[in-house]
Amino acid sequence: MSIFSSSTSAIPDTLEIPRHVAVIMDGNGRWAKKRFLPRVAGHKVGLETVRGMIRQSVDIGVEYLTLFAFSSENWRRPPEEVSFLMSLFTEALKKEVIKLHKSNVRFVMIGNKSDFNESLSHEITAAEILTASNTGLTLTIAANYGGRWDVLQAVNAMQKANPNMAGAFAEEHLNPYLSMHYAPEPDLFIRTGGEKRISNFLLWQLAYTELYFTDTLWPDFDDDAFKLAIQSYQQRERRFGRTSEQLANP
Ligand code: IPE
Ligand code: IPE
Ligand code: MG
Repeated sequence: MSIFSSSTSAIPDTLEIPRHVAVIMDGNGRWAKKRFLPRVAGHKVGLETVRGMIRQSVDIGVEYLTLFAFSSENWRRPPEEVSFLMSLFTEALKKEVIKLHKSNVRFVMIGNKSDFNESLSHEITAAEILTASNTGLTLTIAANYGGRWDVLQAVNAMQKANPNMAGAFAEEHLNPYLSMHYAPEPDLFIRTGGEKRISNFLLWQLAYTELYFTDTLWPDFDDDAFKLAIQSYQQRERRFGRTSEQLANP
């Protein structure tokens, strides 16, 4: 069973600081293009933003930070860009994991791992094992991840585990098989880069998440930009289907 109940079966607590922040890090290519640099230069600088966001999340007490690094559709990009991203990911893991571990960060990767090359798969598994019992921030990297893939793999696994239950499944049967079963649903979703879409990110889990879109390109998304997103979240009224009056007089 999942340790967190779903927003559709029970009303979650709303805290000042979002417990779980999920981010579509978009706009690296355009950031580079504006500077007459190759697109991949934007990805490199984007990695600095990742570091900053992890640090700030730890500082302000976010418990789960989930970053969309590579979608199941990003394989459609030019092969040179795909292989650059894979190398960047591998190198970053090699370099950063010890630091993450020292900061008590638990690293988890979600997505279809079977398409990665051996060296990247190895780094991912090593990082997950090393940091598994850390109790600070849970950092999830979604790579080769797609929301539809996630729901389908969970349905298949659920059916396999319960072969005689066809027609009687409920949310609580599915939840343990979803990739993010170890985390509460995101409280705040951030997408940088100006697009207003979900791009097949956490489709199931975003059911009641507060959505925040900003034109800021990912390499420019600094501490102040993150603070603005949090402030916007703090002004939202999270009703989960209830009325404002009910919230005022519980
Ligand atoms: C996001 O930036 C990073 C990845 C998808 C890996 P983009 O590369 O999509 O940047 P834009 O959207 O082209 O500017
Ligand atoms: C979404 O960004 C995926 C990641 C940030 C990893 P994209 O740039 O791939 O999204 P679309 O293609 O504009 O929807
Ligand atoms: Mg993009």
